[in-house]
Amino acid sequence: MNTPARAAQPIGIFDSGIGGATVLRELHLLLPHEDILFLADQANVPYGPRATNELRALSAANTYWLRAHGAKIIVVACNTASAAALQWLRAEFPALSFVGMVPAVKPAAAQTHSGVVGVLATPATLQGELLDEVVLRWAGGTTVVRQGCPGLVEQIEAGAFDSPTTLEMLKEFLQPLLAAGADTIVLGCTHYPFVAPQIQQLAGPQVQLIDAAPAVARQTLRVLAEHGLVQPHTERRGEITYATTGSPAALARLIAQLGLPPGRVIHAST
Ligand code: DGL
Repeated sequence: MNTPARAAQPIGIFDSGIGGATVLRELHLLLPHEDILFLADQANVPYGPRATNELRALSAANTYWLRAHGAKIIVVACNTASAAALQWLRAEFPALSFVGMVPAVKPAAAQTHSGVVGVLATPATLQGELLDEVVLRWAGGTTVVRQGCPGLVEQIEAGAFDSPTTLEMLKEFLQPLLAAGADTIVLGCTHYPFVAPQIQQLAGPQVQLIDAAPAVARQTLRVLAEHGLVQPHTERRGEITYATTGSPAALARLIAQLGLPPGRVIHAST
């Protein structure tokens, strides 16, 4: 396929579930002319407690599906899958370009005044080598307190952003970070920005929350530009397709509840 024809193909994004939509909405803001194909692997959510081999197999299945549906680039909009599988995917699919995610420890370390940064993430992300690498590289002199959030992704998938159970969980997860003096908290899972207002309310106005999604959108643009794959501006707005391995009706409800950009919602068999 020639380059202009490839540039017209969609940007592919995947996550275990609705979390990847926090990246999708930033991408759509930055690149409104691009078609976006978002795959939410909701039949297998949550990814957080899974083993590396399993996460690699699921990530490969998602990549095959997006490639078969014409994706010109793959954005791994999932910290957990990136931690377990990003390097591996690049080796398995050398002809494809991938953009991945890592908890935003670098900007957090640059912004903290107290010298203590908290990272909220899934168990698999906290155990992954990627996080160790960024902490070693960018957080010299900063104390990084890591907190796993088991169960939180399930609450968000259920649309229970304000439920007493969710608020109790958030209180419990924030307590060790605040007790350690964290003034900057990294949202190290793409689902968590959907409960950022609740986290901010519980943590207090002096705490800064950091979401990597805008930076990932900018990085996607850079990689597309390097490969000559940016869709030229026209009158036409980019179309969004939301695909799920779970229930399209449930995903459509969540999209409406969250006020996400409208799009077609389909079922995917990966
Ligand atoms: N949203 C994903 C992440 O960024 C995965 C969450 C999960 O499925 O446990 O880590």
